[in-house]
Amino acid sequence: MTFARWYNRSLNKIWGFVEDRTSMKKWALRPQPDFTFKPSYWTGAFVVNAFLYQVISGALLLLYYQPSTAPTLTACGQTAGAFSVAPAAWCSTYYIINSVPMGSLLLSTHLYGAYAMIFLMFLHFFRGYYVGVYKAPREFSWMVGTLLLLATLGMGFTGYLLPYTQLSLNATNVGIVLALRLPTVGPLIGPFILADGTSQGLLSRMFDAHVLLIPVALAALLYAHIALFESHGIAPPATSDPLQRRRFTEKEDKKHVPFMPHIFFYITKWGLLYVGVLFGIAALWPWQLTAYAGNVAAAGIVTEPDWYFLWLFKLVDFTGVTPVIAVAVTNVLLVYVLLLPFLDRSKRTHPRDRPFFIWIATSLLGFFVLMTVWGGETPGVQIAPMQVATTIGPIFLVNAVVIGLFHWRYRQSYRRRLASRAEPFAGPFPSGRPAPAAPVGTTEVGARE
Ligand code: HEM
Repeated sequence: MTFARWYNRSLNKIWGFVEDRTSMKKWALRPQPDFTFKPSYWTGAFVVNAFLYQVISGALLLLYYQPSTAPTLTACGQTAGAFSVAPAAWCSTYYIINSVPMGSLLLSTHLYGAYAMIFLMFLHFFRGYYVGVYKAPREFSWMVGTLLLLATLGMGFTGYLLPYTQLSLNATNVGIVLALRLPTVGPLIGPFILADGTSQGLLSRMFDAHVLLIPVALAALLYAHIALFESHGIAPPATSDPLQRRRFTEKEDKKHVPFMPHIFFYITKWGLLYVGVLFGIAALWPWQLTAYAGNVAAAGIVTEPDWYFLWLFKLVDFTGVTPVIAVAVTNVLLVYVLLLPFLDRSKRTHPRDRPFFIWIATSLLGFFVLMTVWGGETPGVQIAPMQVATTIGPIFLVNAVVIGLFHWRYRQSYRRRLASRAEPFAGPFPSGRPAPAAPVGTTEVGARE
């Protein structure tokens, strides 16, 4: 027997034993078609990987972090006299960076991990938007996803204050002013956020929300999100075929790749790569702790949030945009995302068949990128209405022209193809008559019903 055969047989034997003794097939997630072995199908799993790393690194940071604003003479006081009266929260962060073995790496990976999780979540969101995964039967998956988006941003917001730097305190205060303007919700959450009105009260509430309330809510939502995913199976590729079935049958499942170990290992491989890259970046560019809140050296510091809230901060800089208007804009966006599955009712999922909704997504993407860069370059600088119109207007206009032209060309070529096949034009567009029989290869995904 060759070594390779012996090796494979041994592995199969061991795996068979594990499968049998754990009854894995009964509890593992459902099998998936092999075309899903592409990163684009597992963007949500990458967010889960990032979340798991946040939980682990956060639990380790908790061993040293003190959520207190009381002046401390310990920890950082011993390392540098100038810091001897700094708040304990800042001091314990300083201690983690300077005295805990690998502490700087741990803290930096936790912070950059948060950025990465938010970035991957937006990637997952936009990928889902473009390929129309929110369409039937996945409306609730999308809506739970929107709540996950909120919870993830909430994790970022509450975590920002914890090092207790002047920068983080200023930005948190601006965020709180905006949150309190939320209709109905604002007055309700106000007392919870502000506690007794002291800085200690605020820090304690943010800490509680960051390490307990939001993670528990996030885990519960994630459970629901994955349970829904499990019940529908993975969304099939985007198509212009309105008759495409959107779920797998039980019979087809048996022909698919089992989740354990194949898909699990595939996702784990990406997870390990993720952690490796995170450590590399954190080792090369460790996070720097800025001056603590109340430090005289921090008096003139510019208020700036983390990158994912910069667009909102810049919005408040526009002349005439009050916090109430900024909050209203945010709410309209949220309601739009939440109800998207009920707004876009066409059965076709391919981007070329949904020009209006693709125009909105692409314009919003351009808007967020522009506002983020703008907010980072000129934080707190007032912008006149004319400049707003000439900077933001072209994004929406250019997108409309480009997407309109693409759609028009596609419509022409579709007509030509049908004419050459001497079939009547059935219209791949919402206003058209029923589409022709599905092209071969687009209905490979069967129905569960
Ligand atoms: C913390 C944030 C999130 C996590 C951890 C998460 C996790 C996941 C996971 C693991 C899946 C299974 C398929 C995959 O790996 O891509 C999934 C699918 C899905 N997610 Fe999310 N998600 C998050 C946020 C969102 C958001 C913001 C939306 C949209 C508003 C969303 C909508 C969906 C939909 C519709 C599916 C089913 C897609 C399919 O079957 O391919 N998710 N998500």
